[in-house]
Amino acid sequence: MLRIGMLTSGGDCQALNATMRAIYLSAMNNAKEPTEFYGFQDGYKGLMYSRYTMLHRSDFEDILTRGGTILGTSRVPFKEIDKPDQYGNNKVELMKKTYHELSLDCLFVLGGNGSIKTANRLSQEGLNVISMPKTIDNDLWGTDMTFGFQSAVDIATRAIDEIHTTASSHGRVFIVEIMGHKTGWLPLNAGIAGGADIILLPEIPYKLESIIKTVQRKKTNNRGSFMILAVAEGAISQEDKKLSKKEYQKKLQNYIYPSVSYKLAAEIEEATGKEVRVTIPGHTQRGGMPDAYDRVFASRLGAEGGRMACEGEYGFMVAYKNREIVKVPLSEAAGKLKLVDPNSNIVKEARMLGISFGDE
Ligand code: F6P
Repeated sequence: MLRIGMLTSGGDCQALNATMRAIYLSAMNNAKEPTEFYGFQDGYKGLMYSRYTMLHRSDFEDILTRGGTILGTSRVPFKEIDKPDQYGNNKVELMKKTYHELSLDCLFVLGGNGSIKTANRLSQEGLNVISMPKTIDNDLWGTDMTFGFQSAVDIATRAIDEIHTTASSHGRVFIVEIMGHKTGWLPLNAGIAGGADIILLPEIPYKLESIIKTVQRKKTNNRGSFMILAVAEGAISQEDKKLSKKEYQKKLQNYIYPSVSYKLAAEIEEATGKEVRVTIPGHTQRGGMPDAYDRVFASRLGAEGGRMACEGEYGFMVAYKNREIVKVPLSEAAGKLKLVDPNSNIVKEARMLGISFGDE
C-alpha cells in the first residue's frame, strides 16, 4: 500500500487544485501497488491536529479549472514553528505524529517560501516530503516559474487594461498597485503587458523626482495626457532603502497612507497638479480559475510529482528550469528568495521601450 498525504499552505492561488489533480492522476497511473490519498485541511494545521479526509477519484473530478483549494489553507509562520501551540504542544512533533499514525509514505506540500522552509524542516526530521512551487509572487528560488503566477499576471494586466480607457478620457494619472510581496515579478510582467509608462519594483528603488519628471513630460492636459504607473506593493524609494529594516517598519507604521501607492499619489499630485487615482486589484489577483498556461504547467508539475512519489524520490521541490520540469533538493531551495535582477534582459528591454523604473 502506498499512502500519500497532501496539504496546501500559505496564501492560495490559481492552479492549486489543478496541481493536486495531476499528482493524483499520475500516482494512480504509475503506482505499482494500491494507493490511498489523504488531504489535510487548512495547511499544516490539518497535519498538526490530525484533521484530514481520505480523497477519492470523485474529489479530483472537475477541479482542473477551479480556483482556490479544495483542502483549505492557512498560514503557519515558519519563524513560529518551534514555539509551542496554544495548548503548549510542540508543532513539529504534532505533525510527525499524524504522519506516522497514518503510516504515510510521502507528504506533498503545495506552498511558497515560508511553507517550503517548514517542508524542509519536516524532511530533515525524517518525513518523506515533496514540495510543489506555489505562489502568485514567482519568488521561489530554484524554479524559473511558480504556478499561480501566470494567472495572476493575466488578472493584474486586465486591471491595467480596464484603467486605460478611463485614464485616457480624463487625462489622469493612474496608479495600479500590484501584489508580489517583496519582489517585483508580478508588477514587472503585468506592467509590460498592460503598457504601463512607469513600473516601480522593490528591487529598483525609485527617486520621486524621476517619477515627477516622467509625469510632467506628458503634462499637456489634453485627452492623450494620461499616464499609468504599475507599482509593486513593496515598492520603496531610494531614500527609504537606506533605512534599516526596523527604521523602515517604524516609518511605515506612522504613515497616514494605507499603502505606498497612496503616498506616491499625494506626492505626484502636489508636485504636478495632475489628478492622480489609485486602483488596487488586491486579492482578485489570486482568485478565480487558472489560465491555460497554469493548467498545463500545474499538470506537468503534478505528473512529475506523482511519478516521484511512486518511485520514492523524496526531499525535493518539483521545479521548472529552461522549460523542463526538474527537481531541486528542498535543502537548497528553502529560505532563499528569487528577486528580479535590475540588470536582467527583461528590465533592459522594458527600458528600451521607454518604460521608466523611476530611478533615472
Ligand atoms: O504571497 C502571495 C500574496 O498574495 C502576496 O502577493 C501578498 O503580499 C500576500 O500574499 C497577501 O497576504 P494575505 O492574503 O495574508 O493578505
